[in-house]
Amino acid sequence: MDQILTHNFKVMNAARLNAYLGRDGYRSIQKIFGMQPEAVINEVKASGLRGRGGAGFPTGTKWGFVPKNLPLQPVLCINADESEPGTFKDRAIMERDPHLLIEGIIIAAYAIGAHEAFIYIRGEYFRPYLILQAAVAEAYETGFLGNNILNRGFKLDVTIHRGGGAYICGEETGLITSIEGFRGYPRLKPPFPAVKGLYGRPTVVNNVETLAALPYIINEGAAKYASVGTEKSKGSKLMSVAGHVNKPGVYEIPLGMPLITFLNEYAGGVWKNRKLKAVIPGGSSVPVMTAVEARDTLLDYESTAQHGTMLGSGGMIVMDETADMVMALKVLSDFYHHESCGQCTPCREGTGWINKILKRIIDGQGQKDDLEMLLKIADNMVGRTICVLADALAMPVKSFITKFRKEFEDRIKG
Ligand SMILES: Cc1cc2nc3c(=O)[nH]c(=O)nc-3n(C[C@H](O)[C@H](O)[C@H](O)COP(=O)(O)O)c2cc1C
Ligand code: SF4
Repeated sequence: MDQILTHNFKVMNAARLNAYLGRDGYRSIQKIFGMQPEAVINEVKASGLRGRGGAGFPTGTKWGFVPKNLPLQPVLCINADESEPGTFKDRAIMERDPHLLIEGIIIAAYAIGAHEAFIYIRGEYFRPYLILQAAVAEAYETGFLGNNILNRGFKLDVTIHRGGGAYICGEETGLITSIEGFRGYPRLKPPFPAVKGLYGRPTVVNNVETLAALPYIINEGAAKYASVGTEKSKGSKLMSVAGHVNKPGVYEIPLGMPLITFLNEYAGGVWKNRKLKAVIPGGSSVPVMTAVEARDTLLDYESTAQHGTMLGSGGMIVMDETADMVMALKVLSDFYHHESCGQCTPCREGTGWINKILKRIIDGQGQKDDLEMLLKIADNMVGRTICVLADALAMPVKSFITKFRKEFEDRIKG
């Protein structure tokens, strides 16, 4: 498989424009200017590319939702918020190959007819921000951004917006509200951003990794991209892996790789010669898997769903046989309770209630009915809120308790 997203990761100074141009950088831009925007959208549809921000929605289809001939110009928002525990792959792109992202932004903007793009970068990502800012400045100086890109009459301005440090600003409508200058509260959908988003304008929100795949698709063609991966999960994926492994890091894999192959051959296997106990395959918000389940799972959208979990953002957290599952869930609930924006009662109250019960179990004050209570609260959170942050705690709660119930019961018994 070609290194679609990581081909410059080990190149000296790849973040600088000269090095990037020396590696065929910005080649796709001349090509798209010879195509109609609709043809670019069709090429991306044919590639099978799905959003890498977590939901896996087909990218070309999303672009197709932007209404044509509206008086309001469409906008592109780039989701670089990356605040999900366990996920750190967009950071690698921004630090090691920022021009790849900018090239992808130009392609997406051209396809949807946007002349303004906003990169919403996680506030804590200071170093990636500086690198990205320098790359954007270089792109302006050399005519890849600005009023008349490569003298082909297309205008695109890119603004980098630093987030204030809230996980919820990664949710697409929260992100839009935050760029508008308000508290990053998610909004009810519909209307979807494609119809009414930033400043009321049609808006496409795409993840960094999604956009970084576009130059390859345009240069090499949709068919070549689609030849990687499985029938429904096409192309490559960046996996960030952390926890009890020998080689934590960011790796590019073809979608459909067996989880165990990835764990052993890329992440160096479980550390300290210990046994595998559990894996969270796609960032902290997806259901946890037991070692037995992990053995049969492929890293793609369908296989993870068949095993009751999700590929999500590809942020894998590995736990060895010594992991304390009660404490792990308590730590997750600390996070989601802290990050709930508080607009919806099931989320605001539910995350806090779950957190309180788990804390008291950890403190040796657990009660007989606590597990049933936790499951009931989680059930009442799913699908009842403005955004899916509530589900992002409810799903782990249900899977941790169902799959590691004895550990929770023992803890309550003391
Ligand atoms: C609570 C929450 C946090 C999210 N955080 C991120 C994030 O940090 N980065 C991201 O790309 N998508 C995040 N998403 C998903 C976005 O709402 C959206 O689906 C995504 O940016 C779309 O881009 P894509 O189609 O390229 O995947 C989050 C969603 C939720 C509900
Ligand atoms: S689900 Fe939670 S985070 Fe999302 S809008 Fe409602 S209260 Fe806010």
